[in-house]
Amino acid sequence: MLPKSERKTPLPAEPGRERDPQAVREMFSEIAPRYDLLNRVLSAGVDQSWRRAAVREALAHGPRRVLDLACGTGDLTLLLKQSAPHAEVVGGDFAPPMLERARAKARRAGLEVRFQEADALNLGFPDGHFDAVTIAFGFRNFADYERALAELYRVLRPGGRLCILEFPPPPKSGLGVLYRFYFTRILPFVGGLISGNAAAYRYLPASVERFPDPQTLARMMQQAGFRVRHKLFTGGIAALHVGEK
Ligand SMILES: C[S@@+](CC[C@H](N)C(=O)[O-])C[C@H]1O[C@@H](n2cnc3c(N)ncnc32)[C@H](O)[C@@H]1O
Repeated sequence: MLPKSERKTPLPAEPGRERDPQAVREMFSEIAPRYDLLNRVLSAGVDQSWRRAAVREALAHGPRRVLDLACGTGDLTLLLKQSAPHAEVVGGDFAPPMLERARAKARRAGLEVRFQEADALNLGFPDGHFDAVTIAFGFRNFADYERALAELYRVLRPGGRLCILEFPPPPKSGLGVLYRFYFTRILPFVGGLISGNAAAYRYLPASVERFPDPQTLARMMQQAGFRVRHKLFTGGIAALHVGEK
């Protein structure tokens, strides 16, 4: 991580820079080398079972063209291709270092997936191009949710599916209290130790607390034109919203 004096943009964890696209892109580019390791350590591998549930929903109608947006290092993208080998699967993200890692993983796995730079607020794909779009833990970071939903609606064909996997604000239950403690105290410490970027792992809980609750996100998707249902995982720690155009 660059020392603060050499950084071009402040970290998005700093007040006033939340969801600033340039700050978010720079932060994800910096943590890309350690992102997979941290994901597995910090979630004890549970994140992969949530991703598999998203894949099942996305592939339910046998899509021919699928976009995994905010694909990061490509975990969900590769799962999609493994589960639907005949589908054309595209991974899009606006942080090039994430895409480089995703390409290397696809090569190692012998999977033919196209990874390309894509900004959720201005997608370079024609109208109705995809049968399904997935986003795992990326939507929360978008600078403008309404605009992103309008873009997602545009690039889906009528009847196409949008699957958003996210961390909603922690539930108020006992598990939620424990989880909040883990999220705000332990995770930034361990994340900082392994990635060398403690601020990025302070940004994570801050962005989750700010994120709309599952009902509100469902309403926002409905306002964008989708028919929506959602389910919660692991006591409400993760949520999967499925929208049909
Ligand atoms: C927490 S990572 C999730 C990566 C991956 N989907 C996963 O499940 O591990 C969030 C990703 O969203 C990307 N991202 C954030 N805002 C974006 C935007 N406006 N357009 C495209 N990608 C974006 C970041 O670059 C980062 O790779």
